[in-house]
Amino acid sequence: MPIDDAPLAAASQAFLAAGVASFTTPGHGRRPGLADALLALDLPLSTGADDLRLSGDLLGRAQALAASLWGADRCWFLVNGSTQGNEAMALAAAAPRERVLVSRTMHKSLFAGLVLAGLDPVYVRPDLDPATGLPGRMDPARIASGLAGGEIRAVFLTEPSYVGAFSDVATIAGLVHDAGATLLVDGAWGAHLGFHPALPRHALACGADALVLSTHKTLPAFTQSALLLARAGRLDLAQLDRAYGLLETTSPSCAIYASIDTARETMAADGERLLSVTIAQAARIREALEAVDGVTVAVGDDPTKLVILLAGAGADGFAVERDCEAAGIRFEMLDRNMIVPLLHVGTHEAWVDRLCEVLPASIESHRGVPRPPSVSIAFLAEPEPAITPRRAFFAAHETVSFERAVGRISAETVTPYPPGIPALAPGEVITAQVLDALREEAAQGSRIAYCTDPSLETLVVVSEVS
Ligand SMILES: Cc1ncc(COP(=O)(O)O)c(C=O)c1O
Repeated sequence: MPIDDAPLAAASQAFLAAGVASFTTPGHGRRPGLADALLALDLPLSTGADDLRLSGDLLGRAQALAASLWGADRCWFLVNGSTQGNEAMALAAAAPRERVLVSRTMHKSLFAGLVLAGLDPVYVRPDLDPATGLPGRMDPARIASGLAGGEIRAVFLTEPSYVGAFSDVATIAGLVHDAGATLLVDGAWGAHLGFHPALPRHALACGADALVLSTHKTLPAFTQSALLLARAGRLDLAQLDRAYGLLETTSPSCAIYASIDTARETMAADGERLLSVTIAQAARIREALEAVDGVTVAVGDDPTKLVILLAGAGADGFAVERDCEAAGIRFEMLDRNMIVPLLHVGTHEAWVDRLCEVLPASIESHRGVPRPPSVSIAFLAEPEPAITPRRAFFAAHETVSFERAVGRISAETVTPYPPGIPALAPGEVITAQVLDALREEAAQGSRIAYCTDPSLETLVVVSEVS
């Protein structure tokens, strides 16, 4: 199949143009006056782009094209984001109660996977960069010593990290494979990697066995769209396929699937040129901000990733956010100390102009006493796991006041969002340090999410371990 063929996207467009009398879902029927511009693009796969028996195998053909572009043996399109891909990888990684090595800078969705699969995680952490306080690359030596603990069936890494670090995945893959384990990578923020010589190669190209990518984060595809890619050999692809089948809705949005097909076609044909523009835009923003005294723009391994650190200028990110919102600018992530404007192939040149004009001036106007570098507890948590996430999730639990939670085992995740890395996760011992840091971040204005009581008055803890 030629690289410029997008079979699923083409069939979706043809179906939408044909005015078929659809005695099928969805319930809006794309009916004028009932379905607005958003719904007008909504169509199913079966009985829409393809027939009831899926005899055109349009999804299979589109997935095969994506597999070939990313150098995978199998590819699955996902409509529940990288969240679903992480859950599927966990269900294929090992059997319940088996041990896996996990980077603790993982997203909360991998915890969901650990709960579903009943895996027993052993955590490793990347080192912190002393200049910025941010987590850097994962040292292969940490993986080697984690593997030396024995009986590790799989290793889960997040590459690139939320802040743009990309580890030496090739070396780590060698260590993991020598130990008889598989390497499974959450690459949610790196769907664009591998498409430009200035960017790192993606993890599959570096030897990982499976890779999850949020196509919606950095490629031109619908929100929720993602890819799961895998290599045959070490990982049981039939089991991964069963895990995917377990988790995928029976009514996937074909508009979401088709947008992955189009994004794949676009990146294959024009990815390098598009990313050259993104890289130049990022450089322009970096230059404008580095001219502001005290501001640091953290340099990771992905030149499109900007992490703007404000402590040295004494400015408060939330005050800066107010100015930027008033000027019509939104950021992917922001807290008191850092701002992450996400740049991707869809970033408009005029947005970059606006940012370069508004952001440095706003930081200047909120300049204060310089503070030492400081980052969210999400990046720093050093958990003490007591029981597996699954046991904690299903254990008898009770709600206790924040003050009485210290020393107890958490039954829930507590996650500053973004970045979505849990500061506290099911099965971990709750420490005063984590609680104090969470409360401080909440008081500063950060959103604390995915817990029962986001006000942090109470926490759900394990009352009895079965
Ligand atoms: C590292 C990481 N993995 C997975 C996810 C989940 O991705 P999605 O929103 O596509 O489900 C996120 C979301 O931000 C993330 O940061």
